[in-house]
Amino acid sequence: MSQDSSKARDGFTSSFGVLAATLGSAVGLGNIWMFPYLTGSSGGAGFLLVYLAATLLVGLPVMISEIMLGRHAKADAVTTMIKLAPRRQPWWLVSAFGVLAAFLIMSFYTEVAGWVFAYVFKAIGGGLLSTDPKVTSAAFDSMVGDPVQSLVWQWVVLVVIGGILLMGVSKGIEAVTKKLMPLLFLLLLILSVRSMLLPGSSAGLAFLFKPDFAKINAQVVLSAMGLAFFKLSIGMGTMMTYGSYFRDDQNVPVTTFRVMSADLFVSLLAGIAIFPAVFAFGFEPGAGPKLLFITIPAVFANMPLGNVFMVAFFLLASIAAIGAMLSLLEVPVSVMSERFGWGRPVTTVINLLLLALLGSGCALSASLTANVKLFGMNQFDLFDFVSTKLLMPIGGIALCLFVGWVWGEQRFRTALSNNGALANEKLLGVLFLVVRYVSPVLILAVMLKGLNVFG
Ligand code: PFF
Repeated sequence: MSQDSSKARDGFTSSFGVLAATLGSAVGLGNIWMFPYLTGSSGGAGFLLVYLAATLLVGLPVMISEIMLGRHAKADAVTTMIKLAPRRQPWWLVSAFGVLAAFLIMSFYTEVAGWVFAYVFKAIGGGLLSTDPKVTSAAFDSMVGDPVQSLVWQWVVLVVIGGILLMGVSKGIEAVTKKLMPLLFLLLLILSVRSMLLPGSSAGLAFLFKPDFAKINAQVVLSAMGLAFFKLSIGMGTMMTYGSYFRDDQNVPVTTFRVMSADLFVSLLAGIAIFPAVFAFGFEPGAGPKLLFITIPAVFANMPLGNVFMVAFFLLASIAAIGAMLSLLEVPVSVMSERFGWGRPVTTVINLLLLALLGSGCALSASLTANVKLFGMNQFDLFDFVSTKLLMPIGGIALCLFVGWVWGEQRFRTALSNNGALANEKLLGVLFLVVRYVSPVLILAVMLKGLNVFG
């Protein structure tokens, strides 16, 4: 079953490594376009407040719980739940669904990441630079509509992620994210300063941060909660897997809080890098997903040295996507290599091949398979729906029920106080009540609303 137990299990070796890898998972395409766009179109600072509340009441408690379980069991996500569940109760199914969710998310995430990678190279070649959004739009459409380009870029992404995972947890994931995360902050800072220095940039800042409470409705609350969940990579075994690489003396609640705050900071900086520039050149801020690939190139084309800034921007987005994908693929890789004892190289290759197969349907969703639909959705949208609207919330609720009602308060307190070494009783008391009563109810409400159960 599991590998030679006399061999020490790989894990994160330093506090900075823990922070870089975990933040690497949280930071992703969610920060670079989803957060700024949603904030801008859903009430600015008002939306930010709802998002913060959702993060504190749902995101943070679930993330802490997941990391706690992983660190306690020191095993892959499926083995963790088998080890911790009493009387052979099938709680491991929660992790099995997590593995499935990771696969589905990877299938479409690698495609979007492929476009981002492609744009780094296209930006270097200068081919994307045009102040006319019609031209940048045509360039984007011709890329996603070309089956060869779509597949090749997805494979490039898979090979990069697989290559890093092959090196292992400390020498691969930790070593790489320790280098990439500081670079990400540096690029973001340069781009946000550049954006704010443009004449007319203040309108963009106002769009992003001026509260408009009239815009806050059930739909906005729903998207804020969904974003909080997706952003912190919870409800699908990712944080459980990374938690199993945490050191025993790591302060889990404090580390998690730092990751959450740094993630929020990245999102805010991304908004500051994008919207002041968008407004300064008179572009449409509510372009949604297309903002990244169509509006942004046109914005940069208006700036002196626009080419250099555009390369920096898409490099930054690629870095963000890499950390997130490493954590996604590590879920199945660790389950297969540890539970089945197949070894990391074989498991990584199997997972890459599976993803190349499963992901190709998503990659071709804008070309060859555009008309293949199930429940009215193409494969890209279907995988997105099943993973983020169904599997992630169900996983989150199950996790809260397990921790709050099965694992119990005593173990929760012991695990998160590092056996009493940390003086955090009051915090843990409140946290446990939130995990037991508040988070599962909120996640359920959001899930049902997302499925249109209330009409
Ligand atoms: N948190 C990532 C983002 O914001 O883009 C996405 C993600 C990564 C979701 C890992 C889930 C996950 F397990």
